[in-house]
Amino acid sequence: MRSAPLTLLLSAFLCAIGCSDGGGDGGEGGTGGAGAAGSTGSATSGTGGATGGATSGTSGATTGSTGGVTTSASGTGGATSSTSTGMDGTGGGGTGGGPSTPRTRTPAASASSLREAGEKANPPILIGAAISGGGLNDNRYKSVAAAEHNYVTAENEMKWDALEPNPGQFSWGAADNIVNWARQNNMKVKGHTLVWHNQLPGWANSLSGAAAVEQAIRRHIENVMGHFKDRINHWDVVNEAVITNSDTGVGNPRMRPSVFFNALGERYLDLAFQIAREQDPTAKLYYNDYSIDALNEKADFVYEMVKGMVERGVPIDGVGFQMHIGPPNNEAGGADVAANLRRFADLGLEVLISEMDINRCGGVVTAEEQLTYYHDIVAACFSMPECTAITFWGINDGRSWLNSWSGALCNGQSSQSLLFDDQYQKKATYNRVLDALLGR
Ligand code: XIL
Repeated sequence: MRSAPLTLLLSAFLCAIGCSDGGGDGGEGGTGGAGAAGSTGSATSGTGGATGGATSGTSGATTGSTGGVTTSASGTGGATSSTSTGMDGTGGGGTGGGPSTPRTRTPAASASSLREAGEKANPPILIGAAISGGGLNDNRYKSVAAAEHNYVTAENEMKWDALEPNPGQFSWGAADNIVNWARQNNMKVKGHTLVWHNQLPGWANSLSGAAAVEQAIRRHIENVMGHFKDRINHWDVVNEAVITNSDTGVGNPRMRPSVFFNALGERYLDLAFQIAREQDPTAKLYYNDYSIDALNEKADFVYEMVKGMVERGVPIDGVGFQMHIGPPNNEAGGADVAANLRRFADLGLEVLISEMDINRCGGVVTAEEQLTYYHDIVAACFSMPECTAITFWGINDGRSWLNSWSGALCNGQSSQSLLFDDQYQKKATYNRVLDALLGR
């Protein structure tokens, strides 16, 4: 074999020391705007995502101007967004814009809570928990929840059956309690969830005909987002629209039949995001799903679905990866999660770990594996500036939803899936998560 010419060696060397920083590879940063940003992004990588978004068509402009990471993930746009949306944990961390733009997240030197580790990281990252109304009756639960987290998802209280039990009649009490408690404790809230096939009231499930279903979606989103306007600016707009033959995300991925899909087809997603955007021009709007955490068939399908939305200019800001690991969902190692999150972020989207727990029931995941998964998956998200939040699905093992959910193989036993034990003491899982948040 002949040796490479000197010029090639020289350019390889220059690349090794930073050609991706300024050279417009488009990669993570250059994809800036949602939209057909690849070429635009790479051509203008110095000016960042705002440019990418604004120049990629009407649609791209919408997402580009409203999305946090859409702008923050690239060059100059990233720097701007980092200042304006710092508390969201979305800022900074651009790529492709210049040598001074951080490509990774810098951990805090030390922290005595998960929340503090998230707040002191640069850019910050939100640390969330699913909170239940029942939990808020327990002082120990409340104090751990507020000390360790700065982001709240209502576990059930903002689902359709809870908020609109009868057509056009809304019931806000339980959700308001959680939202008000969160705000008293300086926590942000993610609304969960506007459109989902599950936990629907009977009347909604039996709607039929495109007009009736569209009208119901519109009324629900308008009322719910209107009620919480000024208190909630992060929303799971559509949840779990995709199904496979197995809960692990394997086998014939396809759009899930539901009252929404059956009446409107796949366009119900675009519709829901567009209605949500009309209600709030600056809210973060997310698609959320399970068993799309690593590289598998369902994740591939959702990737193509979301990519299509981005290309059509649907105002989507990010994707939530539920990260329910262990029975009956997928198992996911850190490297696979990192590769999967990366490709979604490269669409110009935020990525979030939105419902993490790791189920030990059924003996499928060992204690050692659980620690490794917790550390490596949190680290995979933490290392990416585009990963803006990590939410755990509950506070303590005793209250985990998995304990009583049939698919989880727990049969009433503890799923041992979370970071705190029944006495609200920190577990080894907590320490591994804190390690990952501190870059250890
Ligand atoms: C779960 C709740 O934790 C349970 O209390 C309830 O009985 C069923 O729903 N994906 C989601 C969450 O998006 O809303 C689900 O929450 C868990 C799976």
